[in-house]
Amino acid sequence: MNDMNDDISTAVSPGKFILLGEHAVVYGKPAVALAIDMSFSCSVSAGEYNSLNGVPIDLSRHPHIQCILSRLNVNNINITTWSDIPSGSGLGSSAALSSSLDAAIRNLTKKDMDLVEIARDSFEAEYYAQGRASPLDTSTCTFGKGVAINVKETDTHLWDAEKEDGRWSISKTKVPEMTFVIGYTGIKASTGPLVEKVRKYKEHNRFASDVIDEIEMVTMQGIDDMRNDDVVSLGKNMTANHKLLSILGVSCNELNKLVNAAERHSYGAKLTGSGGGGCMIALTDRPEIVCEDIRLHGGIPYTVKTGVDGVTII
Ligand code: PMV
Repeated sequence: MNDMNDDISTAVSPGKFILLGEHAVVYGKPAVALAIDMSFSCSVSAGEYNSLNGVPIDLSRHPHIQCILSRLNVNNINITTWSDIPSGSGLGSSAALSSSLDAAIRNLTKKDMDLVEIARDSFEAEYYAQGRASPLDTSTCTFGKGVAINVKETDTHLWDAEKEDGRWSISKTKVPEMTFVIGYTGIKASTGPLVEKVRKYKEHNRFASDVIDEIEMVTMQGIDDMRNDDVVSLGKNMTANHKLLSILGVSCNELNKLVNAAERHSYGAKLTGSGGGGCMIALTDRPEIVCEDIRLHGGIPYTVKTGVDGVTII
């Protein structure tokens, strides 16, 4: 083991939701995600073997952790985690785990704390665990605030990533003050199989590629709306994005029910993340009523704050 001492190092990363462009972003299309005030913390210290929350860890069952330990070339490490991000909900729990773990180990072992390197390691972990991924979630949990992919004229270019399926230019984007309500279906969904489902659909059916091109269009329009502070049009593009994701086959009855219920008092609503369960988001200026509508239709509502910071050592 390298330069570890008796210290404990702790890092915290925010959760996120995808505002526009999920699934299409895996193929290099544009997307935007926002960091939210839910978080995942990781504490690490040197140990006699690898453990997670006090129990020896079988790394083959934790591919994100396996990949981060291997990229940072560390072993025999105690990892303790805390999180208020529901796992498998599309709110970035695995991306926040990867980025907080990577940062905590870098800090413990006195390695380079460059955020681009943390984002790169976290992306590789996500790609390895899912079999295919974009760097959107991991970059948002690392850099915080608003992160855009493959969008021209953004504020600050952060880094570039490339895999056989796509090339991604990742940048910061300014996000105006907006109120979002999240509705959790309570159904845990695994991202990898949903990404694979879309890949197969796209490979065997030209129509799926057309739908992905349409997602690109509504995403670009939605990003312009966000820049122009036009919540009415942004909401319409969010709802259009939801319909296209449903056509791609990644929504489900529970998500559609919450989206329909929330839409009544919102500018727009859509599923967020991989779908198949997990969460939806609604853009609204009537959060209390939307929370109530979500609750009445079987969901768990959260009103979240956006614009929060990325990974931080505490
Ligand atoms: O459900 P989540 O939080 O894992 O989001 C997945 C987003 C996808 O676009 C479906 C995949 C990806 O890696 O971008």
